[in-house]
Amino acid sequence: MKDTHLNERIHVLDNESNVMTVIKDIAMSGLQEEPFYVLDIGDIVRKHQIWKEKLPRVEPYYAVKCNDNLIVIEVLAALGIGFDCASKGEINKVLSVGVDSSRIIFANPAKPASHIRHAAAMRVETMTVDNENELHKIKKLFPTAKIVLRIRCDAEVAQCPLGMKFGCDPLDEAPALLHLARVLGLNVVGISFHVGSGCQDPPVYYRAIRHSKILFDKAIDLGFKPYLLDIGGGYPGNKGTSIDKMADTINQALDEYFNTDAVHVIAEPGRFYVASAFTLATCIHSKRTVRGDDSSSGAIAHNMYYINDGVYGSFNCLLYDHQHVTPLPLKDGCGKLIPSSIWGPTCDGLDQVVENILLYEMELGDWVLFENMGAYTLPVASPFNGFPVPKVHVVADESIWLLLKDVLPLTEDHFVIGNTPTNLRLGLDIGGNDIDPWMDADQQMNLAPPEILADAPSTPSPFIFDYVEVDPLN
Ligand SMILES: Cc1ncc(COP(=O)(O)O)c(C=O)c1O
Repeated sequence: MKDTHLNERIHVLDNESNVMTVIKDIAMSGLQEEPFYVLDIGDIVRKHQIWKEKLPRVEPYYAVKCNDNLIVIEVLAALGIGFDCASKGEINKVLSVGVDSSRIIFANPAKPASHIRHAAAMRVETMTVDNENELHKIKKLFPTAKIVLRIRCDAEVAQCPLGMKFGCDPLDEAPALLHLARVLGLNVVGISFHVGSGCQDPPVYYRAIRHSKILFDKAIDLGFKPYLLDIGGGYPGNKGTSIDKMADTINQALDEYFNTDAVHVIAEPGRFYVASAFTLATCIHSKRTVRGDDSSSGAIAHNMYYINDGVYGSFNCLLYDHQHVTPLPLKDGCGKLIPSSIWGPTCDGLDQVVENILLYEMELGDWVLFENMGAYTLPVASPFNGFPVPKVHVVADESIWLLLKDVLPLTEDHFVIGNTPTNLRLGLDIGGNDIDPWMDADQQMNLAPPEILADAPSTPSPFIFDYVEVDPLN
């Protein structure tokens, strides 16, 4: 598991600052070349408020796989949220911030043996299962585990369907698995499902909850005492999306089928909590201009921009998570809109970020932003071809700092009060060197090379090159 930013702290912004001003400060410093993220903690807190308001009966267990950033985990832990972990590594990461093991569900129906043993040792007792072999495995390795039977109930439309891999058939397979668990003397405590990530079929939750009720009754008939309903993930998280329709369906189904406090209802939201909290800033380091057939006119047919993050980095989400991204040039454009494509930095032809879009002319050193980059991006990113995974700068406004500063596992030490620290304001890419990112400005000025300090932060961009004009060949 990658910890790319363990030393990162939360910058408490003053009233005039926000995500966009921080990005501009860093990008326009003239000193920043690498791509970077800005994570807004306030966005996560607002999501949690929406969740509590719309789904008051459903306790969220954040799906760590979606984004395992340590500050995200700490903020969610401070908000009192539980965690869905898929592996020993994720369990360790969540436990490392002080979360109690009872607030973790091991929600991977196919678990390596050593991970089950580890869960037993760490007292992570609740785990999902969808097949016979897993029941036998648990019988041998962790016979007192609290088993949640995962059933299949697929959304008609989902960004990432999961049913072909996980979930037993609720009618044909689930009753037999309950029976086997009984014979093995295991403890089945509930039913779970995942309708598919990026679900676009709100009524599917109703169908899945109805199936769950039938299986609850079946489990009771067999002598179990089920108390846990886990309604999985699937909720959208991008700016402008809403969980209202899903919440209405879920609340109605819960009222109809589980109208009792005896059943604890949880969910495993991933992208809902983090998608919109992360904004990625990338820089154009190269550009190819493709001229039209009529070369004498010199008209531009297409611009190819090469940015410093691609499908092997953050934009792996295009391949694995079937996301679509929208580039937002940091500078206002003017003139004609030109057909353009955007490419990642590696030497692979597959490394394309945007295939075809109309953009105003941009130049080397210009910055392009991508919003909604928090879900299924960073945990999967690799430094293929030697291009580093972007660092994350974390910000919060003052009200969020006041809300969270003393709520464990967050402490005063997690926050840097005032405005963004000098290194961030100057855009210095601080990771990976020995400079203490939090030293005061004077100390830092003494360490920085003179050419950086000469006229920072108005230093001209290192991307301004001298061009030689050449007449066209005839
Ligand atoms: C078991 C499980 N739970 C929760 C999630 C999170 O789903 P989402 O991000 O759609 O909320 C996933 C995603 O793949 C998953 O596999």
